Amino acid sequence: MEESVVAAVLCGLGAWLPPRVLTNEEIATRLDTSDEWIRSRTGIAERRVAGPGTSTVDMAVAAGELALASAGAGDPAAEAPAVDAVVLATATPDQVCPASAPQVAARLGLGEVNAVDVNAVCSGFLYALATASGFIAGGIARRVLVVGADAFTTLVDPDDRGTVPIFGDGAGAVVLRAGDADELGALGPFALHSDGALADLLMVPAGGAKQRRSDDPRDYFLDMQGQAVFRQASTRMAEASRTVLDQAGWTVGDVDRFIGHQANIRILQSTAKYLGLPQDALVVNIERTGNTSAASIPLAMADAQRDGNLMAGQKVLLSAFGAGLTWGATLLRWPALVGA
Ligand code: COA
Repeated sequence: MEESVVAAVLCGLGAWLPPRVLTNEEIATRLDTSDEWIRSRTGIAERRVAGPGTSTVDMAVAAGELALASAGAGDPAAEAPAVDAVVLATATPDQVCPASAPQVAARLGLGEVNAVDVNAVCSGFLYALATASGFIAGGIARRVLVVGADAFTTLVDPDDRGTVPIFGDGAGAVVLRAGDADELGALGPFALHSDGALADLLMVPAGGAKQRRSDDPRDYFLDMQGQAVFRQASTRMAEASRTVLDQAGWTVGDVDRFIGHQANIRILQSTAKYLGLPQDALVVNIERTGNTSAASIPLAMADAQRDGNLMAGQKVLLSAFGAGLTWGATLLRWPALVGA
């Protein structure tokens, strides 16, 4: 008898946004910009801000609870919808040390589980999915909570009109379980890449081991070369997407939905153009969220699922790009989810 391949299967989904809305109009009262400029250059109308009192761990716990509930509701035969690992994608952990995933696991009452942070910035959720898939394929875990959570507005210089309009805060999460590669929800193949020679394009210079302190407060905030990042993002997401499509034997025409990292609507549109993908395959929620870094893909998944824009059986391509530089892609056929 042929042995079936162990795959990581998506079986739960949840997302959480902080209640505080920061509109373009509000930004324009403080900085030299306008709603028209921000909308036309980025596709963003508003974003959420976690603000004092709500941290990355708080947001991750809120999204994680919803994903665990969704996984439990999706499988009535399941016992407690517990997981034996937590992988948290974030570039904004609550503390520089330790990682935040153990605190998320403890707050969710998951016991002494395997818990680790993955930092690939805006590609973090894809890297976290791959890490969790590796845990499952290697027999290290059978059910994994994968969270993407970032309080990215804490890294943004409040006086920089080049970055304030772009970023927002939020969290999204999925549950992955061991299953078969031919099931709906099975993830893979993955293409993951990096180019550290271009780290300077998007960087927070101070606060890390290289430059612990700086006299210039701006060094603690994100320094971004927008146009260079824009070019890299569209081409890299298209390249990684092509790789996984080829590996899976799918054509671009097979793709029903493209859920790309929500950095800029024009980046998503250019990626679709490079790929030859119709624009109506794009899942877009950036208007309401801005760029939420590691949270962006699961937040877009949750919005699309809620709006009926993702149906069981549809072929879905995921791709992300972020600081590092890092980028990647993966695929799945969308599963039937409950309560997401
Ligand atoms: N409001 C008004 N004007 C602004 C502005 C704002 N918020 N931000 C920048 N400008 C100005 C610039 O100062 C510049 O003025 P100048 O021509 O007098 O020098 C002009 O607008 C054009 O700037 P430019 O940087 O060329 O604009 P752009 O079309 O590239 O748009 C970004 C800027 C940031 C929106 C765009 O480059 C981008 O989205 N890049 C990718 C960023 C990203 O996705 N980062 C995360 C990746 S994970």
